[in-house]
Amino acid sequence: MAEIDLLGSLPRAKRNIQKRSEGKSAAVIAEARKFGEMYWDGPREYGYGGYRYDGRWRSVARDLISHFGLKPGMRVLDVGCGKGFLVKDLMLECPGLEAFGLDISLYALTHCEREAVGRLHLGSAEKLPFPDRTFDCVLSINTIHNLPRPKVLEALREIQRLSGGRAFVQVDSYRTPEQKEIFESWVLTAEFHDYPDGWLALFRDAGYTGDYYWTIID
Ligand SMILES: C[S@@+](CC[C@H](N)C(=O)[O-])C[C@H]1O[C@@H](n2cnc3c(N)ncnc32)[C@H](O)[C@@H]1O
Repeated sequence: MAEIDLLGSLPRAKRNIQKRSEGKSAAVIAEARKFGEMYWDGPREYGYGGYRYDGRWRSVARDLISHFGLKPGMRVLDVGCGKGFLVKDLMLECPGLEAFGLDISLYALTHCEREAVGRLHLGSAEKLPFPDRTFDCVLSINTIHNLPRPKVLEALREIQRLSGGRAFVQVDSYRTPEQKEIFESWVLTAEFHDYPDGWLALFRDAGYTGDYYWTIID
């Protein structure tokens, strides 16, 4: 189990914290949590503000392939795959790799990249519809914090069950009270978030032995 920044090659997201904070309301949060069209392709107040493939996940795919020693014929699952950008890029970077995804958003799955069609499953992270050890590696990036704590625990157990611990999760976190305050101004969908120590305790409780990293806004 290692703390490792596998998303370090991504460009920094542009965030107007003040605008997000001012535009936030119970109605906006409820809409964002549907993970429908407004979250993906509606105005920025509701989520991504338009999420289109631009190849930015290719360098992340390269780093994941190298870190986990992924080879053609191996099977990878991306839990919270959204529109399948990482699934597509993993297969572009390692032809022959069998990449799959799962997401709760029907909108994302029905607006996915062509290369991912037939590889993406509709479902929720706390109940993954696959036999034990189906995958050589399971990834879940910025997804499981969208569940309440007891279900985050279940999701981690599921990731462990499918991967045997060859896994990577990245979750919302903060290292200082100032970062926590910024995060709370920004957050729309996360139901559980904590300092790294809180997450590490949760990983232990779940028996999760994979790798991990934090999404911290500062
Ligand atoms: C911030 S996006 C991250 C998408 C992608 N992993 C990435 O990093 O670009 C959060 C993702 O979690 C998905 N999601 C939210 N709750 C989920 C759940 N219970 N099970 C599976 N996916 C979920 C959303 O639909 C969305 O695709």
